[in-house]
Amino acid sequence: MILNKWAIGSVQLSNPLVLAPMAGVTDTFFRRLVKGFGCALVYTEMISDKGLIFANSKTKELLAGPEEERPRAVQLFGSSPDTLVEAARLVEQTGQADLIDLNFGCPTHKIVRNGAGAALLRDPAAAAEIVRQVVAAVSLPVTAKIRLGWDEDRSAEIALRLEDAGVAAIAVHGRTREQFYSGQAHLEPIARISQLVSVPVIGNGDIRSPQDAKRMLTQTGCQGIMVGRAFLGNPWLAEEILTYLQTGDFLPQPSGRERLALARRHLFQVAECRGEVGIKQMRKHLGWYVRGLPGGAKLREQINKLETCAQVETALAGYEKKYLPT
Ligand SMILES: Cc1cc2nc3c(=O)[nH]c(=O)nc-3n(C[C@H](O)[C@H](O)[C@H](O)COP(=O)(O)O)c2cc1C
Repeated sequence: MILNKWAIGSVQLSNPLVLAPMAGVTDTFFRRLVKGFGCALVYTEMISDKGLIFANSKTKELLAGPEEERPRAVQLFGSSPDTLVEAARLVEQTGQADLIDLNFGCPTHKIVRNGAGAALLRDPAAAAEIVRQVVAAVSLPVTAKIRLGWDEDRSAEIALRLEDAGVAAIAVHGRTREQFYSGQAHLEPIARISQLVSVPVIGNGDIRSPQDAKRMLTQTGCQGIMVGRAFLGNPWLAEEILTYLQTGDFLPQPSGRERLALARRHLFQVAECRGEVGIKQMRKHLGWYVRGLPGGAKLREQINKLETCAQVETALAGYEKKYLPT
């Protein structure tokens, strides 16, 4: 299979692989790691429109990062066209975004009770109006990430309305809001949307292996494939997917030592920039890196109680000596 080059508006992409936005996960460090394994496009986590407008410095940090991780989609959430327009203009002014993505898919209560995220799937006309106004306000390409609908599949109608309103691409997670993460992501609606709209469609949901990635591409005709949870603790999957798509070959799985080496590199990059407070943010990542390794659960428990980089390093070295002798 030849890896298709494609484009979202003016943004050229070298392969179909996209890192999904994940709150609390896809910060600049994680984005760079996954990018390093070949992912063509990375998303920030969702950023509150009001957080940006009120110049919350922590919020601004969410969209910053070095050139090496670009192209970068900055994802915004909100419920009103006015604040989303203002936030989109601010994002554009920072020069940190190549794409502005609108979140119409987040299922969590905290978000939907304010009329944002997946709540907008109940009112496709309102979602389309947001897109129309944001597209008119900025010159960057504007994309949207949706689920299939609120409690039933209305994805075809939603996608057509969003296309009409000017989106440059649509990422589709093949579940309704009501499904949250249960069951399987549905590919048929993604295939239908791919046929209906002329902008690129990015298929998302349950891609955990190279074969899943190929299935998403071939069964739906989508141009982009977006991976979220399967990258947690396993950014190597990006390279595995790209290799398999190109050659049909499976790369060997990273060894325990390779996992720990990457965990350390990730930890030190975070600590170098954020200091020891970075440890708290890294605990979950460290847990994901050692998931499935012998003694990994115990190591995770131990790491969760540690406060400094040096302590984590000692724990990792002790673990290596006991479980991963050379
Ligand atoms: C921890 C976590 C945080 C997420 N945060 C966001 C987010 O900020 N914006 C968004 O559009 N989707 C978010 N999602 C949904 C993912 O982008 C993706 O649509 C979903 O996980 C399905 O893809 P997957 O099966 O490859 O994980 C999040 C998912 C997870 C697991």
